[in-house]
Amino acid sequence: MEILQVKHIHKIYGEKENEVHALRDVTFSVKIGEFIAIVGTSGSGKSTLLNLIGGLDTPTQGQIIIRGHNIAALRRKELTIFRRRNIGFVFQNYSLMPVLNIYDNVALPVTFDKGKHVDHDYICELLKGLGIWDKRKRFPNELSGGQQQRTALARALANKPALILADEPTGNLDTSTTVEVMGLLKESSRRYNQTILMVTHNEALAQACDRIIRIEDGQINCAKGGETI
Ligand SMILES: Nc1ncnc2c1ncn2[C@@H]1O[C@H](COP(=O)(O)OP(=O)(O)O)[C@@H](O)[C@H]1O
Ligand SMILES: [Mg+2]
Repeated sequence: MEILQVKHIHKIYGEKENEVHALRDVTFSVKIGEFIAIVGTSGSGKSTLLNLIGGLDTPTQGQIIIRGHNIAALRRKELTIFRRRNIGFVFQNYSLMPVLNIYDNVALPVTFDKGKHVDHDYICELLKGLGIWDKRKRFPNELSGGQQQRTALARALANKPALILADEPTGNLDTSTTVEVMGLLKESSRRYNQTILMVTHNEALAQACDRIIRIEDGQINCAKGGETI
């Protein structure tokens, strides 16, 4: 059963002489529960792809279908709710709320969603699992980069989203924390049947995933083991 279908996606930024063709005819699909690594050099279009799948930006051409919904066809409000209920994001720049403590940052996506009950036990479990339980009453600027990244990861998991989009989630972490974070992602995906798309530069991490999608110059590189449908 597929959770995600990316169909003939093109993304062009800018106009005329400033045009950047960031993605060219990208097509692939992902089954429920798969853990996928997205690999490629800097500027190859990885973040663009993740942003489009997450509905943070719209493709110039093509379709993205998540759980049967063509996300480009959703109204803005529907998309916001859909995203909140189905997708967990981990960005490179953490994007934590500076005025909220660590616990509240993690609980934020659940708090936002009025239809959902905050699972405090689960949030405690996440904070403990990521080694930031003792920081729960601190504010983001009191934490190291690695601790902030773990907070961002806990926040992405707090909703138990069906689809997790992670843009170099371990980029700022040391080796042992990277291994822990990967373990937590894998454990979470197995427990809740979550699908993960993770951008990484780390070839060893990529090899530990179910499948690797390689992007070069905005295109999927099939020759190197990237896959279309
Ligand atoms: N908002 C934007 N406006 C214009 N060009 C952009 C924008 N975002 C990304 N690009 C360009 O699109 C290409 C792909 O970028 P990106 O998806 O960030 O690559 P990656 O994440 O693989 O490093 C690059 O050439 C980048 O400069
Ligand atoms: Mg990027």
